[in-house]
Amino acid sequence: MSTTPSQNQRVVSGMRPTGLLHLGHYHGVLKNWVEMQLNYECFFFVADWHALTTHYETPGGISQHVEDMAIDWLAAGISPSSATIFTQSHVPEHAELHLLLSMITPLGWLERVPTYKDQQEKLKERDLATYGFLGYPLLQSADILIYKADRVPVGEDQVAHIELTREVARRFNHLYGREPDFEQKAEQAANKMGKKQAKMYRDLRRQYQERGDAEALNVGRALLESQQNLSLGDRERLFGYLEGSGKIILPEPQAALTKASKMPGLDGQKMSKSYNNTISLRESPDSVEKKIRTMPTDPARGRRTDPGDPAKCPVWQFHEVYSDETTKQWVQEGCRSAGIGCIECKQPVIAAVQAELAPIQRRAAEFEQDRGRVRDILREGSEAARQVARETLADVMEAMSFTHHL
Ligand code: TRP
Ligand code: SF4
Repeated sequence: MSTTPSQNQRVVSGMRPTGLLHLGHYHGVLKNWVEMQLNYECFFFVADWHALTTHYETPGGISQHVEDMAIDWLAAGISPSSATIFTQSHVPEHAELHLLLSMITPLGWLERVPTYKDQQEKLKERDLATYGFLGYPLLQSADILIYKADRVPVGEDQVAHIELTREVARRFNHLYGREPDFEQKAEQAANKMGKKQAKMYRDLRRQYQERGDAEALNVGRALLESQQNLSLGDRERLFGYLEGSGKIILPEPQAALTKASKMPGLDGQKMSKSYNNTISLRESPDSVEKKIRTMPTDPARGRRTDPGDPAKCPVWQFHEVYSDETTKQWVQEGCRSAGIGCIECKQPVIAAVQAELAPIQRRAAEFEQDRGRVRDILREGSEAARQVARETLADVMEAMSFTHHL
């Protein structure tokens, strides 16, 4: 094992098993995971319980998708020797931590998460006024905190969930992370700053802890920084008291934002199953060809002799992902001068997508032949994940003095 600092950092991420993965997932998420598994200790899991929050009426489909998704990951290059790959529901500690965290999570925090109302609006055909769906982001918090993750690679749409995770961790540490007389000692230390400064400190602390006011935190830190007469112990207490962290049991994770995927869909919008504009990782070469051949192009090119503008054409966006400079220049000139036709222009894209998918599909086929091996990988991954999860849960229970069955 290498001991570079990043190797010591832990990465956790999950994906809901809601169907076959496509090029959007590959360019937006999987390629990033493949890279991360080399530099960090990674835990990647199939979030089957999360799928259940929205698909509880058709749970049978989820089971089928769990293995398929694992095959897509393995085929894309996620390796069980570099990362721990597992199924969320095989690690019941996620659910146990979720339950414990639910005791300290104010309802308002969950109701205010933007995806809660958004998704209810978007998926109107489903009844998502459920307890489970409200708890979706808290279950995600448990997924992350149970491994004490440092980084969580996610897209922009998940940032609010990581933010909630940080707040829940902070609240947990605040409630349970203190020496028995921590509060009293901290209050006494505050008094040593003098009446005026102590009041200022308490006000800033309240502003930060009740409203998450980051500016108040900064001013509070600066105030402590400027104190000359505090002992080292008192200083540390006051910093911990200000930040709400006596002892840190659940560290706050950072979102590792995945760059917005450049992968467009066949119609130029973001590639997504709900827009019906995807190329799946299992798409046959013939189907790839057919889908790209029928992609819309710049409408100005009604006839072969009409010049066009790549900026108005979704095919150009594919060239941006797949083509080298020479090819891109050939497209730019040929399109604007009507020197090339659209079918001609699409040819290198077809070839590039087919070439990208070929090795992925070869590996997927191997795993398809050997589903027992896929199940073994998930089972072994779950066992390894459980070891870590159990340790965190023991820390959590101890901090809560909930030790009668340990
Ligand atoms: N909510 C995430 C999504 O829809 C999936 C997910 C579940 C997740 N648990 C997680 C992502 C924990 C990161 C970490 O994409
Ligand atoms: Fe699009 Fe290429 Fe046709 Fe231009 S030539 S409109 S870039 S497909």
